[in-house]
Amino acid sequence: MASLAARTSSKALKNVSRTVGRSTVSPLAASRSYSLLARSTVAAKPKTTFENVRGVKTLDFAGSKEVVYERADWPLPKLHEYFKNDTLALIGYGSQGHGQGLNARDNGLNVIVGVRKDGASWKEALEDGWVPGKTLFPIEEAIDRGTIIMNLLSDAAQSSTWPQLAPLITKGKTLYFSHGFSVVYKEDTHVVPPTDVDVILVAPKGSGRTVRTLFKEGRGINSSIAVFQDVTGKAKEKAIALGIAVGSGYLYETTFEKEVYSDLYGERGVLMGGIQGMFLAQYKVLRANGHSPSEAFNETVEEATQSLFPLIGQHGMDYMYAACSTTARRGALDWAPIFEAANRPVFEKLYESVKNGTETRKSLEFNGRSTYREDLARELKEIDEQEIWRAGKTVRSLRPDYKQ
Ligand SMILES: NC(=O)c1ccc[n+]([C@@H]2O[C@H](COP(=O)([O-])OP(=O)(O)OC[C@H]3O[C@@H](n4cnc5c(N)ncnc54)[C@H](OP(=O)(O)O)[C@@H]3O)[C@@H](O)[C@H]2O)c1
Repeated sequence: MASLAARTSSKALKNVSRTVGRSTVSPLAASRSYSLLARSTVAAKPKTTFENVRGVKTLDFAGSKEVVYERADWPLPKLHEYFKNDTLALIGYGSQGHGQGLNARDNGLNVIVGVRKDGASWKEALEDGWVPGKTLFPIEEAIDRGTIIMNLLSDAAQSSTWPQLAPLITKGKTLYFSHGFSVVYKEDTHVVPPTDVDVILVAPKGSGRTVRTLFKEGRGINSSIAVFQDVTGKAKEKAIALGIAVGSGYLYETTFEKEVYSDLYGERGVLMGGIQGMFLAQYKVLRANGHSPSEAFNETVEEATQSLFPLIGQHGMDYMYAACSTTARRGALDWAPIFEAANRPVFEKLYESVKNGTETRKSLEFNGRSTYREDLARELKEIDEQEIWRAGKTVRSLRPDYKQ
């Protein structure tokens, strides 16, 4: 679908300087919704005025009160008015650049993309309808044209490109990140923002692909927001508005430091590293005891992902336990504390490795190599070739909705 932002962009790009009081957003954009599915719902509502915008929510999270900001507080006309003089310059078009950029464009904002000319991301941006010279530029030019500089390069590239990019981030612009990585680990990354710009963060809690698919479904991903530097007094408000603009449904407040510690820890732990390690350990013991690959896979991965984990997601751990046999429940209740005790020292070690910067240095070294894409692909291929995941392919092929 041709984006409205793309259609209005040539006009907008002639007016990239902050021209207070004049909107560069087409009136058509004001009628566009947060997503294709939600559009009809919003369109059916009576005219939205800023006065009827709801307040933020203070919610009780297990006894701890936290403020949550939500999309309903930022109806599209308010969002358009707020960003009427801004050009969002997305630097980098990987997973997050793709998701956040397309969502902000579909929301009717002025968005441009800056990537290495003729690199893999340039080609992907072309395929997504970004137009060279209008909405797609080499990195330096996009920064020059943007008022809000959204640094969505890989974390390693944010560090290696900083000496060239930093002088372009001039007074009046806003510097945006989706991870606290570069700024928090400044001794290693050498990313020290200029002191005269707002520095903010919107970190979606999921991959950029999910940022996009949830938006298209009319939902919105949960994101964290944080302020590192508030020069204008408006940094937090801007972070919230940008969070909604890029497709978040709910925004939770944090700091750059807490965001990066929890994120690096979580992905190395339960979300990715831990889950692969647990799956593999369980599978190997089953295989060593004579179980077939299909039985070992079904009992380790298939039942988890297809039956039990979705129940945890929907209603919590106790609900999943209650949905299983009394035999299963007894065993799970007995063994859970044993796994907790065995794993806790590993998690303590992991958190320390995140906090002291070891994980950051490893990531910068590895992802800073010119061969980082090939090197990562080689290691992922090794996982793909493990027996457990080869068995998984055959199990998955039997599903009625299987697609290769
Ligand atoms: N992915 C996630 O799940 C996720 C979730 C939340 C937050 N974040 C954060 O969002 C930010 C972006 O992450 P991502 O996963 O979307 O990006 P990514 O895939 O790690 O990075 C891809 C982008 O970086 C560019 N790039 C790499 N090396 C470069 C270099 N030396 N010079 C110029 N450009 C270079 C690539 O361009 P080429 O194609 O030209 O190489 C591409 O556009 C990061 O701070 C990340 O931590 C990511």
